[in-house]
Amino acid sequence: MASLTIRKLDDAIRDELRLRAARNGRSVEDEVRVILREASQHRPPPAVSATPEVSRVRSDADAGLPRVTLIIGGGIAAYKALDLIRRLKERHVHVRCVLTRAAQQFVTPLSASALSNERCYTDLFDPESEFDAGHIRLARDCELIVVAPATADLMAKMAQGHADDLASAILLAANRPILLAPAMNPLMWNHAATRRNVAQLERDGVAMIGPNAGEMAEAGEAGVGRMAEPLEIAATAERLLRPPQPRPLAGKRILITAGPTHEPIDPVRYIANRSSGKQGFAIAIAAQAAGADVTLISGPVDLDDPAGVTVKHVESAREMLHRVEAALPVDIAICAAAVADWRVANEGEQKLKKTSAGMPPLQLVENPDILATISKLPDKRPRLVIGFAAETENLIDNAKAKLARKGCDWIVANDVSPASGVMGGDRNTVHLLTRDDGDTGVDIRIESWPVMTKEQVATELVADPRPRAARAGAHRSYDCATTGLRGADPSALRPRIEARCHRAELAGHG
Ligand code: C5P
Repeated sequence: MASLTIRKLDDAIRDELRLRAARNGRSVEDEVRVILREASQHRPPPAVSATPEVSRVRSDADAGLPRVTLIIGGGIAAYKALDLIRRLKERHVHVRCVLTRAAQQFVTPLSASALSNERCYTDLFDPESEFDAGHIRLARDCELIVVAPATADLMAKMAQGHADDLASAILLAANRPILLAPAMNPLMWNHAATRRNVAQLERDGVAMIGPNAGEMAEAGEAGVGRMAEPLEIAATAERLLRPPQPRPLAGKRILITAGPTHEPIDPVRYIANRSSGKQGFAIAIAAQAAGADVTLISGPVDLDDPAGVTVKHVESAREMLHRVEAALPVDIAICAAAVADWRVANEGEQKLKKTSAGMPPLQLVENPDILATISKLPDKRPRLVIGFAAETENLIDNAKAKLARKGCDWIVANDVSPASGVMGGDRNTVHLLTRDDGDTGVDIRIESWPVMTKEQVATELVADPRPRAARAGAHRSYDCATTGLRGADPSALRPRIEARCHRAELAGHG
């Protein structure tokens, strides 16, 4: 049955099967049985792929994760390297282990494989992985190499450029950053030879963590030589893998309004706009992540306060305005709240009762327009004021009119017709209308963005520092014909908000 199936397979798959079988030391028929058994147990079999074993073994769950090749050296601290595997994995790092011969005296390849959920490598002359120079791939098919414990012997070999076993060959072939966690007896650590080797490795650009001072495994001995704790090593590895993000809005104060306002009719009823607050909250989170000092003034919403953001909860438009004024001055104001345009003048002190004459008449008075108010402030006007225009029809025309009427700098226009699903949903389709380039002769510039999550809209709006061309797909279309946009965008290399503030500073505004 198996041979019949194999003969019928096309050449490429048959070749892959043979390769896979050879690597796993099985006959082709046995390999097929293993694949079928795994499939019947609903475990996806490892992909049959032309990519060699060492580079293709990442599971689907690990796809996209940063990868570490962890070389475990031969010292008593090797047992802590097993914990390090777990600490790295809980930080969403894909780990592949290499054990030196000496390390196998302390821990087994099986333990390392089980914890890393990966094949463990031990032998430079392993026909299963070296048929195509697997040590080169182990050195390069990762973002970081960690050596823990880094023994005196392994460090001496590194400093001298030896390559007589798998670990040292990987370290010599590496073109990735290397982090060593030395561990040895204090006398070995302080020996002149080790000092020379450490100095050489530091000159070679190798990073080190530890060793720490403390008791040695050897009874009665103490000093500097204990391997750094797995948590410390994992944290250092994470810093090397994921360097802190730039904080382009550091030092900027941003005020954001979000959510609806509730305008009481009586103690139990109110007037409100539909608004989940999700877009405003997402902007607050993105601005905070970009380093801004964010104050979020929110109407009643069902969302958690974002960490690191000053949140003021309000009910009505008048309360919101009061809080906004108290938060000034700021560099940037973003009014994403769906403020109710009217409130009830004759708010009932008690619950209004149905009468035979029908509904009691409600007298409505206009609420203060918060966006227009802060856009027209004579002295405390933020350098950049951004409003939203949620429209169900004539989106762009209405948004343009709003930009002019309210006196803000930018308007984020979005279609909130019931068919768009924006209201309360997680996605948004927006057009950004900007009026900020007096010197280029541009009146209003319109960018139409594709459908994005509200988080993506927020990130794009506040803090995307990449040049436009480098952003995922040049997805924005400029309505050049109607706006007369010309020339290169001067903010292309800056986060858009920061760029706008910078230009305002140069122009002496605000
Ligand atoms: O006039 P309209 O409500 O469509 O304008 C929407 C924009 O104006 C939004 O940015 C909203 O936060 C803001 N706005 C405001 N105060 C109001 C009404 C709207 O800040 N009273």
